[in-house]
Amino acid sequence: MAEATITPGDDGPYHVQGDFVLIDGAGNRLEITDETWLCRCGESDDKPYCVGAHRGCEFADRSRVAK
Ligand code: FES
Repeated sequence: MAEATITPGDDGPYHVQGDFVLIDGAGNRLEITDETWLCRCGESDDKPYCVGAHRGCEFADRSRVAK
């Protein structure tokens, strides 16, 4: 079974690491790799990838597990 780790970066993208397949909304296979960063601010012009635009839009989110 594939295993991947997805880490929401503080005020930035999801960092995806491991064994995974990335597929777009139309079912197209986008990338096969062991690491990528996915936009979660909505400002990337190359979605689903992060291009660093979160820094310019002052995206702020620090995800933490509720305990
Ligand atoms: S999170 Fe980096 S461009 Fe959106």
